[in-house]
Amino acid sequence: VLVVRHRMQNSGKWAKTMDILRDFEDKCATPIGKLRQVADAMTVEMHAGLASDGGSKLKMLISYVDNLPTGDETGIFYALDLGGTNFRVLRVKLGGVENVKKEFQEVSIPPNLMIGKSEELFDFIAGELAKFVATEDEDMQIPPGTQRELGFTFSFPVKQSSIAGGTLVRWTKGFNIEDAVGLDVVEELTKAMERVGLDMRVSALVNDTVGTLAGGRYSNTNVIAAVILGTGTNAAYVERANAIPKWQGLHPKSGEMVINMEWGNFRSSHLPLTEFDESLDNDSLNPGEQVYEKMISGMYLGEVVRRVLLKMAEEAEFFGDTVPTKLQKPFILRTPDMSAMHHDSTPDLKVVATKLKDILEISNTSLKMRKVIVELCEIVATRGARLSAAGILGILKKTGRDVTKQEENQTSVIAMDGGLFEHYTKFRNVMQDTMSELLGEETCKNIIVELSNDGSGLGAALLAASHSQYLEYIES
Ligand code: GLC
Repeated sequence: VLVVRHRMQNSGKWAKTMDILRDFEDKCATPIGKLRQVADAMTVEMHAGLASDGGSKLKMLISYVDNLPTGDETGIFYALDLGGTNFRVLRVKLGGVENVKKEFQEVSIPPNLMIGKSEELFDFIAGELAKFVATEDEDMQIPPGTQRELGFTFSFPVKQSSIAGGTLVRWTKGFNIEDAVGLDVVEELTKAMERVGLDMRVSALVNDTVGTLAGGRYSNTNVIAAVILGTGTNAAYVERANAIPKWQGLHPKSGEMVINMEWGNFRSSHLPLTEFDESLDNDSLNPGEQVYEKMISGMYLGEVVRRVLLKMAEEAEFFGDTVPTKLQKPFILRTPDMSAMHHDSTPDLKVVATKLKDILEISNTSLKMRKVIVELCEIVATRGARLSAAGILGILKKTGRDVTKQEENQTSVIAMDGGLFEHYTKFRNVMQDTMSELLGEETCKNIIVELSNDGSGLGAALLAASHSQYLEYIES
């Protein structure tokens, strides 16, 4: 009798687990019709954001980049890339597309600096930059008496006042340094560089999407947009200057302007939001903001999985009669670990078992349980990948590139960067398949999604070059 009762209880718990999983799966569904609605909503918000400041959740920030690199840029430039858990410093020697020499160093940001004081963060960055400058060798030596120039990739929403200045609108992605909001980040960095005795001028301030667009365009003139799928997610694209009603400034000769959409902050009633997204958002550093980003990007995917597992543990005793302590810790399950579990191709799901043990201190899981976990990763990653494809369709629609223009045979390239796109193979594949599904086979031939590895650092250096103080160019 006891054995039978035990089995019945177990099957009841299992049924409850499956209920939670299936319910979650239903709520995450992204049928093609819904994706089209998301894409259309994206296009509508793009129009609204371009019409007026504050007109939309999409900030559609003017980047002051109205000319993209041509390939003729020359010289030695620095770039600094700040925006995730690491920041990078780069030294680039430019001498034509085929002739780029890059040296870089990656430094991780001490977590306390991400939520501390502005001055501390900028002092740390300037200090690391100064150390890197000191490693210049003969081949990459700046001529004596010339001031070094820097392209600053700052991957947060910034209201630019020029190509080399702008104020921080707000932090995203786990950064929260209150006293920096509203400050000109170039001024702050410049002051910090002075404090550490580094003589360098910031010639260009760019978002990582804008840097990636510039870097991508350098080697491929068909690049019209850039999308980052990394810790956060965002897109930039080339817009016609006269399609930006809110822009009062002088229109450039090129007639174009790169727009940093800040699409992470997109939200729409068409987004398949679940209770887990809502609680994640409520508990986050920026509740109510970056809702699209929280469903898609690397900082959050693992955390969504953790929250669903926690519910299974609490309500269906998925991991036994106690809730594993580690599972209760926010952000303990990182997206790279989720990806490793999702890609586990061993017959008995060994990788899943190891990750559960190492990260969550959960052992003795059955194969059946591990399969549930893989399925859960699949649901979360698929939703994110499909939603990001819908976002790209939104951009293609706004720029009139979503249908084949047979007569022009126009090719549109989207430059992609970010660890999620680069390393999470299943995410990338689903995203690409969804693009084909949305666009149809014919159109799809003319739309290329391409990894532009570290295009953003190169792009920032290129923009520093084309806005160098040593260039004498005559505005006409
Ligand atoms: C966040 C930032 C945005 C950046 C993106 C990718 O969404 O707000 O500026 O481009 O992450 O790094």
